[in-house]
Order: sequence, then C-alpha cells, then structure tokens
Amino acid sequence: MNAISQNPVGVDDAPSIVVRGDGPLKGTVVVPGAKNSVLKLMATTLLTDGVFELMNVPDIADVRIMGDLLEAIGVDIQRPAPDQLVITGNGDLTPVAPYELVERIRASINVLGPLLTRCGQVRLSMPGGDDFGARPIDMHIAGLEAMGATFNFSHGYLEAHADRLHGADITFDFPSVGATENLLTAAVLAAGRTTINNAAREPEISDLCEFLIAMGAGVSGVGTSTLVIEGVERGALRPVRHHTVPDRIQAATYLAAVAVSGGELDIVGARPDQMEMLLARFADTGLAITTAGNILHAVAPERLRSIDVATLPYPGIATDYKPLIITMLAVADGVGIVTENLYPGRFRYVEELQRLGADVRTSGHHAVVRGVRRLSGAPVKAHDIRAGAAMVVAGLAAEGETEISGVHHIDRGYDDLVGRLAAVGAAIERRD
Ligand code: EPU
Repeated sequence: MNAISQNPVGVDDAPSIVVRGDGPLKGTVVVPGAKNSVLKLMATTLLTDGVFELMNVPDIADVRIMGDLLEAIGVDIQRPAPDQLVITGNGDLTPVAPYELVERIRASINVLGPLLTRCGQVRLSMPGGDDFGARPIDMHIAGLEAMGATFNFSHGYLEAHADRLHGADITFDFPSVGATENLLTAAVLAAGRTTINNAAREPEISDLCEFLIAMGAGVSGVGTSTLVIEGVERGALRPVRHHTVPDRIQAATYLAAVAVSGGELDIVGARPDQMEMLLARFADTGLAITTAGNILHAVAPERLRSIDVATLPYPGIATDYKPLIITMLAVADGVGIVTENLYPGRFRYVEELQRLGADVRTSGHHAVVRGVRRLSGAPVKAHDIRAGAAMVVAGLAAEGETEISGVHHIDRGYDDLVGRLAAVGAAIERRD
C-alpha cells in the first residue's frame, strides 16, 4: 500500500476510509456474489424445509442482517466459509419481521411472499424510505391481493393473510424488482397459474428464477418481462445448492476505480453478458474494455470523455451505477447530462462531490456534470451504499487525502472494498 498520513481528520470513533489519488492501478480484482441476489435467495429458502447451501456469498453486513432476520423467523444459519451459507429450516416458523431488522435492511420485505404462501399469514414491519427517497410497496400489496391475500395495517405493521393464494394475471405499470420477486416467490406455492407481465428482468431475478426451478418450482419466461409460474404443492419443493450470480455493481465499481486512477485491471468472476449496456457506455468514455469468459480487462485512457446517461430498469443503465458514473464524469473532458428515472431524489451525494471540487448541478431528476481535471481531497460522507462507493472512487480521483465517514453504509454492500483496491495499488486504508 502507498503511504498515507497518520493524521486522521475524522471527528469521532466511527470507522472511516482514507484514500489518496495516487496514480494508476494494476492487477486483478475478484468480484464477489451479488448482494441483491443473495438476500433474495436467503429469503426464498423460507419456502421449504431442509438444508440449503449458498455459494459465492459476499461477506457483507446485509447478509448478516438478513441472517438475523431468518433466525428470528426460526431458521438455522451457519457460515462454514466466508463465501458460503448453510441455511436449515425445520418447519417451526414464526412469520414475523420485526421493526429492528426491517428498518436496517430493505430486502427484508422479500420474506413477505415466501412466508405468506407457506404460512398463510405474515406480520411485517412497514419498511421506511431511504436516503434517496420514498420506497413504497403498493405494487407488492396489489399483486398479492390479486392472488387472494388480505392486508391490515396497524401500529406500523402490515398483516397479511391468505389460506392459500391462487394464481392471477398481474400487469405491473413499472417493472419493480422487489414486487416481481415477492409475487414470483408467492406464486410458487399458489393454486394455479400466475402470470407477471412487465416483470423486472434484472440478472438477480433470473438468478432467483433458476434457484426456484432447481427447487422444483414451475417457472418459465426466465429473463423476459413475462414470467409464468405454475403453482406446485408444498411437498414438491426441495432444498438446493446454488452459486450466487456475481455482483455487477461491484464489478462496475472497480471499472470506475481504474477509469479515474489510470492503469489497467483484470476484473475476474464477472458476467460481462449482464453488463452489456454499461460496458458500451463506459467504452464511450474511452475506457478500453475487453472481455474473455468471466474476465473484464480494462485499460484507462489518458483522460475520460464525457457522455450523457439515463438510468432505466434492466437491460438499461442501473440506478445503482449512477453515483459511479457521475464521479467519472466529474473528472472527464466535457459536459455530461445524467438523468435519473428510478429514484428522483438519488442525488444527495452530489453535495459531497462538490466538496471535492466537482462541478455538478442538479435540477429535478437531471445532473449536469462539467468535468474538471482533478478533484481535491476533503472529508466527505457516505449517504448510502452506492454513494459511499462513489466517494471512494472520487477519493482516487482527488489530489491529497479524502476521508470518508458513514462507512457502515459501504459495509452493507461491499465485500472488502478497501482490501481489494489496496491490493491493486490504491493508496487506501480503513481506520477503525
Ligand atoms: N416502486 C413503487 N411501488 C412499489 C415498488 C416500487 O412505486 O410497490 C417504485 C420505487 O419507489 C422506485 C422504483 O419503483 O421508484 C423502483 O423500485 P424497485 O422495486 O424496482 O426497487 P427495489 O426492489 O426496492 C432494488 C434494489 C436497489 C435498486 C433497485 C432498482 C435490492 C435490495 N434493492 O430495490 O438497490 O436500486 O432495485 O434497480 O435489491 C442498492 O443495492 O443499494 C439498492 C438501492
């Protein structure tokens, strides 16, 4: 690791990440499994008893929190290796998701579908918003109601009942990831056929479909916007061993890191076929990317070029990539316009980038980014997982030292971001 001054600028005892823009990166980074897949796979094990083995599990805080939630519901979780989970259910479930856990992790909403279809009832603390805005669950509720569920809301809890759900023909007005997952998992044990039209097509949903099919569920249309689920009887499902799909957002984080630092990286264990649109847009910035199997080889240009980008559901550019893209544009040549179509409020980290000298203006759901040659290091805050990773990338693009607080957000979704970047030559360290 390159030298970093020993004078922390943090003002409290919370951990921080200190990074210095100190030249090119070189080497190999291995991409862990996807947070936004494994959390859903974990919740889905509630559909049946027995011993599930999940492989390629990222070592992140959200997996531990989801593990706590499953244990509170009545399932045993073991972690024989950092990238492996063994989840054992014995049928004795308490279908309640308490406030303390739901407020810590959004994906706890994913226990709704499996618990309702299996137990006939669920009590779930209502999930709150996020730093980037309100995150309603009206589509989850309307879809489950169409399948015969009834809902009551009292004292901050949502109570759902259904003796047995029945199939339904559901059309989303927006391809919500979470609503697609909840209806998909609920439909697996419903009576009859469920069709989800305008379903989300994210690779993590295809991973969930493959997992369900291996368990014995009747799911077709995988990877398309029409999912058809033929309900099966409970006894038809069995536990499985499954390798989690790689994390495309973490892969993109290392691409952004090399793009702003210079140098070249091999990013191993990725799925380039699940990142096609992003790779094409990154190529437009001048980042030279070649792929071979599960390896992305990226060579940074002397200076990035600006591009215009709009976020969209998959296969479009994911909203989770956006903080990384704005950070790249902050040091690119030219002016880029970034349009957010999923979470209009997801621009809060822009104020932090401005503290580093970035020239970014936001208006409604647009950001106009005028690239400067170099950012200048300063203390900044991570406001959510992806914004936190973008602050680390911004630190790599900044002269001097950038100290990032709010590291617990980064720990929720990144498996040793600091160690992985330090191993390829970044001047970065964590101060606990
Ligand atoms: N929406 C509704 N009603 C609903 C559901 C969604 O209005 O019932 C709206 C949301 O408010 C939002 C949009 O639809 O404006 C997209 O929400 P979606 O349901 O697709 O997202 P999610 O399932 O809540 C997942 C990821 C997010 C990622 C989004 C979009 C997980 C745990 N979270 O959220 O990831 O940004 O899909 O791709 O899978 C992250 O990992 O940091 C993260 C925020």
